[in-house]
Amino acid sequence: MNATSDSLWFPYKASTVASQVDNIYFFIAAVTVFFTVFIGALSLYFAFRYKRRSANEQGKPIHGNHILEILWVVVPTIIVLVIFFWGAVVFFQIKQTPKGALEFYGVGKQWMWKFQHPSGQREINDLHVPTGKPIQMTLTSEDVIHSFYVPAFRVKMDVLPGRYTSVWFEATRPGEYHLFCAEYCGTKHSQMIGKVIVMTPEDYAAWLKGAEGAAVAAAPAQTQTPAESGKRLFEEFRCNTCHTAVATALGPALDGVFGSTVELVTGEKIVANDEYVRESILYPQAKVIKGFAPVMPTFKTQLSEEQLMQIVAYLKTLGGSGEKVQA
Ligand code: CUA
Repeated sequence: MNATSDSLWFPYKASTVASQVDNIYFFIAAVTVFFTVFIGALSLYFAFRYKRRSANEQGKPIHGNHILEILWVVVPTIIVLVIFFWGAVVFFQIKQTPKGALEFYGVGKQWMWKFQHPSGQREINDLHVPTGKPIQMTLTSEDVIHSFYVPAFRVKMDVLPGRYTSVWFEATRPGEYHLFCAEYCGTKHSQMIGKVIVMTPEDYAAWLKGAEGAAVAAAPAQTQTPAESGKRLFEEFRCNTCHTAVATALGPALDGVFGSTVELVTGEKIVANDEYVRESILYPQAKVIKGFAPVMPTFKTQLSEEQLMQIVAYLKTLGGSGEKVQA
């Protein structure tokens, strides 16, 4: 057996949750096989055992059996509850990004994947990641619904236009693994295939350095982190003329806003998360902060999804919850 194959039946296990997902799968499969064989065998046995032996043979009347009835209610109930709670525990673990995860960004597009590393490096259809570090993918789409699926990590997440979704994984074993689009997204859906290249942290660091070295000659944006690009865009689009801390400012100052609860003109209170920031850039009138007039123009036609993510990444560094950008 080679290094990239764990078993005959399953894709390689290359993330921290892979075994847990497989265990539940095996349990459900085992329960299914057991009852299929058990019921099938009993049916056959009873068919022979209680076969009508003469033309005038009469069946014995049966008036129920309490023990049997209790058993067939209680046993399946326990089994499905085990599946439910076990599944829920693993589900919540897969849903909750651990603290300190590396933040990667991904954009799906007919028919390719575009990725950006926390250090700013960009890739198309390839995604290099280190082992031993939780990695959070913030995902969106430029056109239709796609789905980010890495079988070896046992993670799958819908990638939706106009919305951010996120998924995390921690790779455990260096190697190359398939990245699929798991949502039918047009004629070339089946060709929307990428590779996740898992490296040791040392190899990853060396790769980043090499990749950065190669990118120096290219566009300056290539060497900037998403947050740095976002800061540049923030200044380029003159967001800072209105979003300042002076009393007469037309827009709210954004220091410490990300991740905090803000009050709207309607009196409603919401958390200023990435979804809210994105909406406020594209549809500024949708949720106006209390104390301000709805005067901001939309930037809908001027910013790409990648640029929006970069601005979100920058505002995150200004917020209370995000880590500070290293300038
Ligand atoms: Cu993208 Cu299927």
